[in-house]
Amino acid sequence: MKANLFTPFTLRGVTFKNRIFLSPMDQYCSRDGISNAWHLAHYGSRAMGGAACLIQEATAISPEGRITPGDLGIWSDEHVEAFRPLVDFIKEQGCVPGIQLAHAGRKGSTFVPWEGSGALSAENGGWDVVAPSALPFDATSPMPRALSVQDIESAVLAFAEAARRAVSAGYEVVELHAAHGYLMHQFLSPISNQRTDKYGGSLENRMRFVLDVARAVRSALPGRVPLLVRISATDWVARDGWDLPQSVALCKELKSIGVDLIDVSTGGLITGVKIVTGPGYQVPFAESIKKEAEIPVGAVGRIVEASQAEQIVANRNADVVFIGRELLRDPFWPLHAARTLGEDVRWPGPYERAKLPVA
Ligand SMILES: Cc1cc2nc3c(=O)[nH]c(=O)nc-3n(C[C@H](O)[C@H](O)[C@H](O)COP(=O)(O)O)c2cc1C
Repeated sequence: MKANLFTPFTLRGVTFKNRIFLSPMDQYCSRDGISNAWHLAHYGSRAMGGAACLIQEATAISPEGRITPGDLGIWSDEHVEAFRPLVDFIKEQGCVPGIQLAHAGRKGSTFVPWEGSGALSAENGGWDVVAPSALPFDATSPMPRALSVQDIESAVLAFAEAARRAVSAGYEVVELHAAHGYLMHQFLSPISNQRTDKYGGSLENRMRFVLDVARAVRSALPGRVPLLVRISATDWVARDGWDLPQSVALCKELKSIGVDLIDVSTGGLITGVKIVTGPGYQVPFAESIKKEAEIPVGAVGRIVEASQAEQIVANRNADVVFIGRELLRDPFWPLHAARTLGEDVRWPGPYERAKLPVA
């Protein structure tokens, strides 16, 4: 019997050979947002490793939208040229190249994680950060400047421009990063959004920026290209934050705009909250959104075993699984998972003679 994890899945004009997606993970290895040999080796080996789709790390729509100076970007045609060989190689491996478009907002201008922590000074290459309101992420973070209405409208256009560039580079899936406390999530949550204009206050107003971006990006994309949105389904606070019911309302709106799948994560907006993690701890959020907003979803977070991933898909908790750190540990996790589940999948030609028989 075919393992559910290895059944194909289609969104719009794109068919994924299985249900395993690489979760976007910042490599912090770029200069001026340009991709280089690291990205080719890193994404190339995950494409060889049998994942159906790679969602490239948070890729900034503007220089000040980066988290660190090492983030990838897509704010010029020079970036597009550098992405082409990477995208072509991923496709040659039978894998779908996807890209996460991002703006860090108040969580920008920080150190590459292994080089330091906290705000990056101007001498160290830091920049001024922006946010819905002048509220810093934490005590060590820079004070953001509150965006004007004109700035917000420009950011919407920059997301659409970035989406157009992504398509011209050859990406076949676009994901918007509206999770983990970055700019779009900052607009959604009343903790970080204390605006009194049409972008703040009511749920409708707090959702406006994300929905405007989704609409603009959807119109910039050809009909065949699926649009995904990663959200944090909760801020993990008991009240007055962003939570699951608001996420369901948002996902219903996103669906009506033509968003094809919600990538369901949690947290990241504030520090000091208690999050009880464990294997598959975010799966119930994905399942609720799938049921209540009636939209395909991806589950992410501590999914590490083939049988665990298989159960998530078989039980219809989620349509696909996003694998993060386990794919850093083992780029060939999908090929190994296939063997564990008794699936005979194709290995890259040059590695064929190393393929172990299916048990
Ligand atoms: C090194 C690293 C970088 C990450 N960068 C991003 C990112 O660019 N965008 C994003 O949405 N999530 C990012 N994440 C979160 C992962 O995509 C994933 O949601 C998280 O690691 C939980 O999944 P896991 O338990 O399978 O690792 C990152 C995680 C790690 C470990």
